[in-house]
Amino acid sequence: MVLSTGHSKIRTAVFISGTGSNLKSLIKFSKTIKSPISIEFIFSNNLKAKGLNYAKLYKIKKKVLNFKNKNLSENKLLYILNINNIEMICLAGFMKILSKNFIKKFKGKILNIHPSLLPKYKGLNTHKRALKNKEKYSGCTVHLVNSRLDSGRIVLQKKVKISKNETVASLAKKILVQEHKLYPKAILKLFNL
Ligand code: GRF
Repeated sequence: MVLSTGHSKIRTAVFISGTGSNLKSLIKFSKTIKSPISIEFIFSNNLKAKGLNYAKLYKIKKKVLNFKNKNLSENKLLYILNINNIEMICLAGFMKILSKNFIKKFKGKILNIHPSLLPKYKGLNTHKRALKNKEKYSGCTVHLVNSRLDSGRIVLQKKVKISKNETVASLAKKILVQEHKLYPKAILKLFNL
């Protein structure tokens, strides 16, 4: 990544749609000395996202835009990110697909976490599909975002063994625990730290 890690931390926004457990792990990581990022902004398309509570808890600015008119919401969002000097975006359970135009504006500076071993199982219902296909392993992937869904350069992956009586819920839980470790690790790797 071309961003310099200089002295000040990279001003980062996290985009969420739900629980925000990855957001929480990123906030905790960002407060460690070794973290190259500081989380300055939380964005959600969903007013009811539980993860928005972390904004209040950790005194981080937040914004909600419903994305019903994607173009309008994205333009507003770009403006807000700009005035807040946001340099990097981490998608963490963000359920909207960003437009080509938006991605271009943050080219190479948007990361996503996906609960599968990409390129396998892009998109939704990853656990269900992995179980149906009788996979022995699944896992999670942190990748850079490009204009094709779940297809950007892979930064880091973690493999998880699927057990005999695995269910969608148990697999999701098992992988989520690994996601919380993987995202910070991937950020360190991205900056060669
Ligand atoms: C994670 O499994 C993430 O990989 C997926 O959605 C889930 C979000 O969980 N895209 P949380 O909101 O971070 O708890």
